[in-house]
Amino acid sequence: VLSGCAGRHNWLASAGEEAHRVEELFWVLLVGAAIIWTGVIGAAVYAQRRQIDPSLEKQARRFIVWGGAVLPTVLVGGLLIWGLVILRDITSDEGDLTIRVDGERWWWRVIYETPEGDVVTANEIRLPVGQTALFRLTADDVIHSFWVPALGGKMDMIPGRETQLALTPRKTGNWGGLCAEFCGGAHALMRFDAIVMEEADFEAWLAHEAEPAEVAESDPGYTVFDEEGCGACHTIRGTEAEGPVGPDLTHLAAREKLGAGIYEMTPDNMARWITDTHEMKPDIDMPPYPDLSGARLDQLVAFLMSLD
Ligand code: CUA
Repeated sequence: VLSGCAGRHNWLASAGEEAHRVEELFWVLLVGAAIIWTGVIGAAVYAQRRQIDPSLEKQARRFIVWGGAVLPTVLVGGLLIWGLVILRDITSDEGDLTIRVDGERWWWRVIYETPEGDVVTANEIRLPVGQTALFRLTADDVIHSFWVPALGGKMDMIPGRETQLALTPRKTGNWGGLCAEFCGGAHALMRFDAIVMEEADFEAWLAHEAEPAEVAESDPGYTVFDEEGCGACHTIRGTEAEGPVGPDLTHLAAREKLGAGIYEMTPDNMARWITDTHEMKPDIDMPPYPDLSGARLDQLVAFLMSLD
């Protein structure tokens, strides 16, 4: 119980419709079970200590029938129906917007479906408050699980198969998301920010996200990026970098975090990420570039931090 009680991953402080329904169910079950447990244990203790007066045998039998059979059947049946209603309410295959999320080792490929086409980003999911986002989930290689505790339940991401999850945030804020299925070395570092915004802010963000990056051909940092072959894995829309392997970097610096939700997006962290990659996040596919230093590293970092 205590493990879920603090910070932005606290599902008992729900910030979304679906999480709220589950939270409601949890409290009713917990308090109800506590009352029934107290009653049952109380009756057992009472029966241990007292001889039942033989003349009360009939009442005792009635108590057993009503308390031991009828009441539990009605209660459990009622809870079953209520639970099924909640399950129906929080499961949906429709949404006001659709977002495809692909679980990779160990990051998230995020694709917003818009009438003008797909908008690709990574490791940060922004949502408009009060609207239902339908997530279409899949995985690249192993099973992951997509979970934003404050907004709703988790859903497995399975290679070769699509699962769906609807989330309807009720409060703005940054609600952390994480992978909830052990998927290998950096599983615990597979996180993301789920940022809930006012609708107008969200629309502006999405429109900007759809734009290509503004990169000057003469940018010395872009030259380093190009020479080091970063574009073989990463895409920066608007440049020749079209690698499909790693996260899309088009608006990298507009994200709050680096490395799939684990470091603040600062120039220092960016420099360390490039040179000490496996210190920052063990086991990932991106190779470290320990030979990059001095002016070249500074230029590359400045270039990446300009991608906002
Ligand atoms: Cu992905 Cu654990």
